[in-house]
Amino acid sequence: MNATDANLVLQALMGRHSIGQRYLDDPGPSDDELLTLTEAALRAPDHAALVPFRFRAVRGAARARMASLFEQAALAAGKDAEGAVLDRERALKAPVTVAVIARIDLGHPQVPAHEQWACVGGAIAHFLLAAQALGYGAKMLSGAKARSALLTSAFCGPGETLVGWIALGTPSLDRRAKHLKPAAGEVIDFWS
Ligand SMILES: Cc1cc2nc3c(=O)[nH]c(=O)nc-3n(C[C@H](O)[C@H](O)[C@H](O)COP(=O)(O)O)c2cc1C
Repeated sequence: MNATDANLVLQALMGRHSIGQRYLDDPGPSDDELLTLTEAALRAPDHAALVPFRFRAVRGAARARMASLFEQAALAAGKDAEGAVLDRERALKAPVTVAVIARIDLGHPQVPAHEQWACVGGAIAHFLLAAQALGYGAKMLSGAKARSALLTSAFCGPGETLVGWIALGTPSLDRRAKHLKPAAGEVIDFWS
């Protein structure tokens, strides 16, 4: 990689940020682009190549079905009708939503669960970064609904965990989260 390419990669990495679903409009990524994002996710470090994750994209008519499940999950969790409708409307905002599903092998002889979870995190980061590189806004979201039995059974198979959803679309506003990151020096030191 030459210096110009290296700079571009670093700029992309350091400029990565989430964009909330209220700022995500049409169009979302195409089917081919979703494959590209998945390919990027598959480059995450993965001990023993277990691929402890998979994605399920929701677009088109399936969004209404997912939104209705969000509403039902909110009601089941004790939200009032108004709150549940808000959850449904939020689910419809992003043109494409991608469920992140972890499949952790708890009995693996060589790779403990925490290493597999680290891979899932890396996959999410790569997916988000690739989305931004293609010009899309994205944000990883979860909340109590990711743990709801209704949504878990709709998205996951036996033994799988619903991590949450990545909302994707074209940013209407390039709005960054307000919270600041710590200085790098606060996060790395020299062990001796
Ligand atoms: C697995 C996972 C679940 C998340 N769930 C939520 C969520 O439900 N709501 C939320 O506001 N942020 C959630 N976040 C954090 C946002 O995706 C985002 O990273 C955060 O707002 C910081 O913004 P940034 O990505 O621009 O630094 C989650 C992140 C991860 C990795």
